[in-house]
Amino acid sequence: MTMHTRSLGTTGPQVSALGLGCMGMTALYGDADPSESIATVHAALEAGVTLLDTGDFYGMGSNELLIGEALRTAPPARREQALVSVKFGALRDPAGNWTGYDGRPAAVKNFAAYSLQRLGVDHIDVYRLARLDPAVPIEETVGAVAELVEQGYVRHIGLSEVGADTIRRAAATAPITDLQIEYSLISRGIERAVLPTTRELGIAITAYGVLSRGLISGHFSADRQLPATDFRAHAPRFQGENLRHNLGLVEELRKIAEHKGVSVAQIAIAWVLAQGRDIVPLVGARTRERLAESLGALDVTLDAADLAAIERAVPPTAAAGDRYPAAQMAHLEP
Ligand SMILES: NC(=O)c1ccc[n+]([C@@H]2O[C@H](COP(=O)([O-])OP(=O)(O)OC[C@H]3O[C@@H](n4cnc5c(N)ncnc54)[C@H](OP(=O)(O)O)[C@@H]3O)[C@@H](O)[C@H]2O)c1
Repeated sequence: MTMHTRSLGTTGPQVSALGLGCMGMTALYGDADPSESIATVHAALEAGVTLLDTGDFYGMGSNELLIGEALRTAPPARREQALVSVKFGALRDPAGNWTGYDGRPAAVKNFAAYSLQRLGVDHIDVYRLARLDPAVPIEETVGAVAELVEQGYVRHIGLSEVGADTIRRAAATAPITDLQIEYSLISRGIERAVLPTTRELGIAITAYGVLSRGLISGHFSADRQLPATDFRAHAPRFQGENLRHNLGLVEELRKIAEHKGVSVAQIAIAWVLAQGRDIVPLVGARTRERLAESLGALDVTLDAADLAAIERAVPPTAAAGDRYPAAQMAHLEP
């Protein structure tokens, strides 16, 4: 495995070509093992991964506490190479329900104060609103993060799941390094308007869900039992006939993977890597085994014939089902 770097936009730092998304280590995909999660973060840093992604609302702060512990217990040189990207703004209630978004400037600074404490760091490398707060103009939220940059608490400003107009308004307010948004073989919506806009403005994409939350990893099966706390138990693409159809696409992908002597997950990640050097996939590995598989994608070369075969196997609109349940789709900008 060779760790290459990519630039986080024209104004951001160089980061490893793959980032580690830590959400599933405490939340949303059922139970996870804290010690294996920390070992996975350490193994990622050891392999040259520099970008770690979290959100203050993943496990109500527990994901940040876990990353804080992983950083504290990592060798100093590894700790120093880590860049932490944090999302804020999503509101929860004690039962874990999602109750809205808060992008008010005073709230932004409050969220940041708590995140710094939980992570045990003196600055956050990339700080971003998780979803647009419809009640607060993006200029106000980004302006508040820009003040945190001036004060040294934040290094760079990112965005998450917003559309082209919001990206332009945000970029007119302050330098934006990257947009975090879902992008995979079966989630290609950004190609129409978002990707042309970020490319015009010199903003990178940190792509999440490159394995569609495991659906196109080659490891997911129709008989897998998911606890109610697992996002996938409610995600349209994982339900009934949709799931059967989507796993059929995975079998087509498997034929290509087998022909190339790599795994399905590696093909799916390598396809995202091949879409442009401005795209940094965040892989959601939460075990060292899955991490090693994901990192193997860095050594998979896809030529034009491979890419064409992959797109024949999984055409752009082939997936069945929305990527979020309806209530959460409502928070996504077109
Ligand atoms: N900005 C946003 O709105 C947003 C939304 C979602 C996520 N994110 C960020 O993006 C990160 C990645 O998203 P994601 O976790 O949904 O992405 P993902 O990489 O598509 O899915 C990760 C899941 O796929 C399964 N998997 C199977 N094989 C794997 C392999 N080789 N490597 C990694 N995972 C494998 C694992 O599930 P099992 O362990 O159950 O098999 C794992 O939990 C998150 O951790 C989070 O930091 C951002």
